[in-house]
Amino acid sequence: MADANLAYLSLILLLPIALLIFLYLIVRPRPVKIPIKNRHVFITGGSSGIGLALAHQAAKEGARVSILARSPEKLGDAKNAIRLASGIDVAVFAADVRDYEAVRRAVDEAGPIDVLIVNQGVFVPAELENLELDEVRFMMDVNLMGSFNMIKAALPAIKNRKDGGPASIALMSSQAGQVGIYGYTAYSASKFGLRGLAEALQHEVIEDNIHVSLIFPPDTETPGLLEENKKRPQLTSIIAASSSAMKADEVAKKAFIGIKSGSFIIPCNFVGFLAGMATAGLSPQRSFFMAFVEVVAAGIGRVAALCFQWNWYRSIEKWHAQQRT
Ligand SMILES: NC(=O)c1ccc[n+]([C@@H]2O[C@H](COP(=O)([O-])OP(=O)(O)OC[C@H]3O[C@@H](n4cnc5c(N)ncnc54)[C@H](OP(=O)(O)O)[C@@H]3O)[C@@H](O)[C@H]2O)c1
Repeated sequence: MADANLAYLSLILLLPIALLIFLYLIVRPRPVKIPIKNRHVFITGGSSGIGLALAHQAAKEGARVSILARSPEKLGDAKNAIRLASGIDVAVFAADVRDYEAVRRAVDEAGPIDVLIVNQGVFVPAELENLELDEVRFMMDVNLMGSFNMIKAALPAIKNRKDGGPASIALMSSQAGQVGIYGYTAYSASKFGLRGLAEALQHEVIEDNIHVSLIFPPDTETPGLLEENKKRPQLTSIIAASSSAMKADEVAKKAFIGIKSGSFIIPCNFVGFLAGMATAGLSPQRSFFMAFVEVVAAGIGRVAALCFQWNWYRSIEKWHAQQRT
């Protein structure tokens, strides 16, 4: 009996160790460290909100920083704010990501890039029934097609980077890019699209020592969100409130921690971490320990996901019942 217990105990201990060793051997791509200091960080949508916070963070970490956005006035204000905060002069480029030639000219002028953060984004929240097709197209063009334009234009500049060290392409998604949310049909579709782009791109650029990341912030206090809140359907706010809101500089700090460790999925808060595990699916994972957590938590993660869905559908039902009374 004692022997049988000992055998069970050994099995219970050995199984996780064997799994850890197995995962250590197979996780791909391999772990990497991406330096920021003295490297060129190019940020789109860097004149406001999360992009501006990313530019501040990159400057603080000793990078050469370039920011791109449409409005020259907002770019000028951002440049002044960063100079005041860190003494660093960032390069600014006025271009619309929907215009491939304009983006290519900006990249040519900016020179070789080590870290590209494709952060620009627009959100028009409304039920599909109330969205104009022009608004759908606008989100797709800026969020998805604009990201293609930016990455395609920048790839030669990233491949020609001066030090040949590990480089990064980070895409700003959203928690609405991990799970569809009421009022976000077009926005979610544009952000889900980034995931396909990122997964396929990582296959294509791994040989060039370029590492792709997807950042998934929750609601974040920015001028963009302030505008959005004016027209957000009530149910969008109720569902989005499942994940606590963050400040832009907190998101920027989390984003850089993830970029520097080459993480494919970069969550920004605890709910984002859970969503990252629940939606890990076929995505790449560099950390054998995180792979272990994903494997062990897969079942319970699905239960948690179903609880979130239960809660959201209950809110939708309740809201409609209130409208009827
Ligand atoms: N705030 C949130 O709650 C939240 C949550 C999750 C994810 N995100 C994502 O985070 C990113 C930044 O959002 P934010 O809230 O910081 O937005 P924001 O405050 O509105 O800033 C958006 C930035 O993108 C630039 N931009 C917009 N359209 C552009 C275009 N066509 N070409 C070039 N630049 C363009 C804007 O400058 P110009 O207008 O001058 O071009 C600005 O610099 C977006 O991708 C968004 O989807 C935001």
